[in-house]
Amino acid sequence: MDDTSALRPPALQWLEGETTALGFDMASEPRTGALLATLAASKPGGRFLELGTGTGFGTAWLLSGMDDASRLETVDVDPAVVEVAKRYLSDDRRVTFTVVDGAEYLRGASGQFDLVFADAWPGKFTHLDEVLALVRPGGLYVVDDLLPQPNWPAGHPDKVASLVADLERRDAFAQVALQWASGVRLMVRRPTDR
Ligand SMILES: C[S@@+](CC[C@H](N)C(=O)[O-])C[C@H]1O[C@@H](n2cnc3c(N)ncnc32)[C@H](O)[C@@H]1O
Repeated sequence: MDDTSALRPPALQWLEGETTALGFDMASEPRTGALLATLAASKPGGRFLELGTGTGFGTAWLLSGMDDASRLETVDVDPAVVEVAKRYLSDDRRVTFTVVDGAEYLRGASGQFDLVFADAWPGKFTHLDEVLALVRPGGLYVVDDLLPQPNWPAGHPDKVASLVADLERRDAFAQVALQWASGVRLMVRRPTDR
C-alpha cells in the first residue's frame, strides 16, 4: 500500500534536491505531508497557518490539498530555507511567505485559522496559549515529531513529554495521538456552545 502518492505535490521533486544540497534535515516526511494535504482538503475556503516553513515540504503538501479559495500563511525566521520554498511555490497565489520570528508573528496575528501546522519552536514548545487562541471552533491544530527521533538533542524527550502533557489538559480541544509518521497530535477546537 502506498499511502502518500495520490496527493504528492509535483514541486516536491525539486524541493527534495535543494533541501539535500542545503543540508536541511528537518523537512516533513511524506506521511506527515499526506495527512496535512488530506486535512487541508476538509476546509474549503480555509485559512491556514504553517509555523516553520523550512524548505517548503509542508507548504507544498498543504497547497496540494487546499482548494482555490483557501489561503496559506507560512512563517520562518531563516531566509535561506524560505528562499528554496519560494523558488518553487511562490507562483501559487494562495500562499504568503513571511520571514519573521514565529513569536513575533504570533504576537501580531489577527483573526483565526481553520488549520495551524505548528512546526517551529514558537507555537509548539513556547507560545502555546497564543497559537491555540488562533484556532477557530472546528479548526485543527497539528504537531508532529512527537515520537523519539534520532536527531533529538539531549533534553528534548522531556520537552516533548511536557508539551504532550500540556496539550492533553486543553479541554477546549478534542484530540488524538497518531502513531503516524514521526508521531502526530491532531487537535480540533470544540464548538463553544457545547
Ligand atoms: C521542522 S522545520 C520546518 C519543516 C517544514 N514545516 C516542513 O514541513 O518541511 C523547523 C523550522 O522552524 C524554523 N524556526 C526555528 N526557530 C524559529 C522561530 N523562532 N520562528 C520561526 N521559525 C523558526 C527553522 O528555520 C526551520 O526551518
